[in-house]
Amino acid sequence: MTLSKTPSKFEQALKKSEQYLKYLESSGIKHVPLAPSLSLSPEGGERKSHGGKQAALEALNKIVRPCTLCPELANTRKSVVFGSGDSEAELLFVGEAPGFEEDLQGLPFVGKAGQLLTKIIESIGFKRGEVYIANVLKCRPPANRNPLPEEVINCQPYLKQQIAIIQPKIICVLGNFAAQTLLGTGTSITRLRGNWGSYEGIPVMPTFHPAYLLRNPADKRKTWEDMKMIRERLQRVRITKST
Ligand code: URA
Ligand code: URA
Repeated sequence: MTLSKTPSKFEQALKKSEQYLKYLESSGIKHVPLAPSLSLSPEGGERKSHGGKQAALEALNKIVRPCTLCPELANTRKSVVFGSGDSEAELLFVGEAPGFEEDLQGLPFVGKAGQLLTKIIESIGFKRGEVYIANVLKCRPPANRNPLPEEVINCQPYLKQQIAIIQPKIICVLGNFAAQTLLGTGTSITRLRGNWGSYEGIPVMPTFHPAYLLRNPADKRKTWEDMKMIRERLQRVRITKST
């Protein structure tokens, strides 16, 4: 009889952390503060204190802020737009990249598209501050050009880490770019939207980007349908947890 050589969850996580640290080291980052929520408890229990996730996000933000992996973005940005919201959020929204206003203020989705996103969030009973909002790219591409493949590769570990810390119940990806990046597909948002996908085991609902909806208001109805699916799934998760 041979014993199965499948690595345990812990071994897998350790391997991933090791790879990530090597990657940071290769980008010139020599010091990584230990995040309290990521420390291991002897019982192997999950630490979920609010301070833990918040502190872990802040520690990560400190690593991201001086990032110069994409020289053009680093040279032209005013801010690194890390993300904002509740570190304990059940629902995470992921957009493409900061625009003019976001770069200026250092916050995601604060321009016209952001105002519509706030309404979309409120349409399913959340306050904006109760969800978490982030982007695939943390820096604004000059003149809002599309993010380049190497920029996405450079920035991806930061979003991955944000998701690993927040552990949202559902991720809502906004528009072609975020949907295709997180779902690893070339299929267009028109076909993806309204259908559940998955990212690292977390359910993903793709929907239209609010900037697209500003130009095509007739499609708001479809985004409303997608948001209702998110609301219903979150309600199911809550019921399952309490019974
Ligand atoms: N569009 C995005 O994709 N993200 C923002 O933060 C703002 C506009
Ligand atoms: N193209 C995008 O990038 N996003 C949309 O939501 C629709 C079309």
